[in-house]
Order: sequence, then structure tokens, then C-alpha cells
Amino acid sequence: MEEITKATGLPLIGDPAPAFRAVTTQGEINFPEDYKGKWVILFSHPADFTPVCTTEFMTFASMHDEFKAMNTELVGLSIDSLYAHIAWLRKIQELEWKGMKNIEVKFPVIEDIKMDVSRKYGMVQSQSSTQAVRAVFIIDPKGIVRTILFYPAAIGRNFDEIKRAVQALQKADKDGVATPADWRPGQDVIIPTPGSCGTAKERMESQDEKMYCLDWFLCFRKES
Ligand code: BEZ
Repeated sequence: MEEITKATGLPLIGDPAPAFRAVTTQGEINFPEDYKGKWVILFSHPADFTPVCTTEFMTFASMHDEFKAMNTELVGLSIDSLYAHIAWLRKIQELEWKGMKNIEVKFPVIEDIKMDVSRKYGMVQSQSSTQAVRAVFIIDPKGIVRTILFYPAAIGRNFDEIKRAVQALQKADKDGVATPADWRPGQDVIIPTPGSCGTAKERMESQDEKMYCLDWFLCFRKES
């Protein structure tokens, strides 16, 4: 396991986000230092001027303000030159799809022609030695990797799910809770499992209008 991690350079959940300096469409960045105190979605796409990636960029860019309101910054990357990025982002602005038009990509897109960053993050996988997979790293305000998603080139990502994951991480950190399957903001959350027979019994006996249990190990806090 250790060897695989070293070979691919893939950081794992709970690891510090690997540091790098890079040229982007918004100038140079020093990562993750420049993003201290903010959540970051660092994501890769296989290539500029490709169809699935174009729909993803239109979608992500149109959600940029929503992410900003969640103290969350977006940083894109592909193994392409800065000039290819600039030309593609200009072209995207001319396109219209699903009601999205005049989309300006204001978040930085990393030039990674030498694959320095994509290799550090395990974004180049067996599918292609010259294109990154669709990777998503959600990194917290302390620079720790908190969620990792990988999709193959042919499948566009679900950006609502990426937003939901950030919302769930922020809720978990703020309230010390976990979130059940398909959780959405405003829905009931799971409280930590009791760690002893005594607290398990107490938990079952202390159910009230704010907390209910399906069993001693599965208790919810009501959110409304
Ligand atoms: C696409 O974005 O459409 C794409 C990129 C690389 C390989 C296949 C599809």
C-alpha cells in the first residue's frame, strides 16, 4: 500500500495537501499557502477544447459565486499550456448550453504541461499517460485533504454532489456530527456513536423532541 502511494504521489484523506507553486490563468499561485482559511476544490480535467470538459467548466464557472459564498475557492488544472487554457476559456464564453451563456471562468486554471502538479496529486492514472483523470480534491482551511473523487474521461461530474460534499464537511466540522446518506442542508444529522455500554443506555433513555434513535448506535439530531 505504501509503495502504491509513493508511486502515484496520491495524497490520502487526512493528509496535508501537497504544496506547489504554479502558473495559472489568474497569475501565479502558492498552494495551499495562498488559500489558508478557505476551503478549496482542486480539480483536474483531461484536456482543453474537449466536449465533456467544456460542459463541466460551464457548470462549475456558473456555480462560482455559490462556492465563494461558502468560503470555497475553485482551482482547475489540466496538462495543457497557459495559452491553450486562455484560448479555451475565451471560446467557452461564446458558447450557450442549458441556459448558461457568456460564462466567464474567473477561477485559476493551472498550466501543468510538465505534469508536476498532476503527478503530485495522482491525477495521471492508467487511463492515459498524457491526460489527467477527472479528479476532485476538497481541501479544508487548514490545508488538509478531506474528500477525493475520481471520474474517468468519458463521464462528466455531478457538481451538485461536489457542493453537497463541501456543505456536509462544513456541517460536520461546525457541529461535530456526521451526515446520513443523501443528506442535504436542513435535514437531520447523525450524532457520534456512544463509546461505552453506559453511554449507549443513557443515549436510548435521553431521546426527546430534539434527538431520536433507531437504535443505540444510530441516533439523529433534529434540524427542524
Ligand atoms: C471530453 O472532455 O470530452 C474528453 C476528454 C478526454 C477524453 C475523452 C473525452
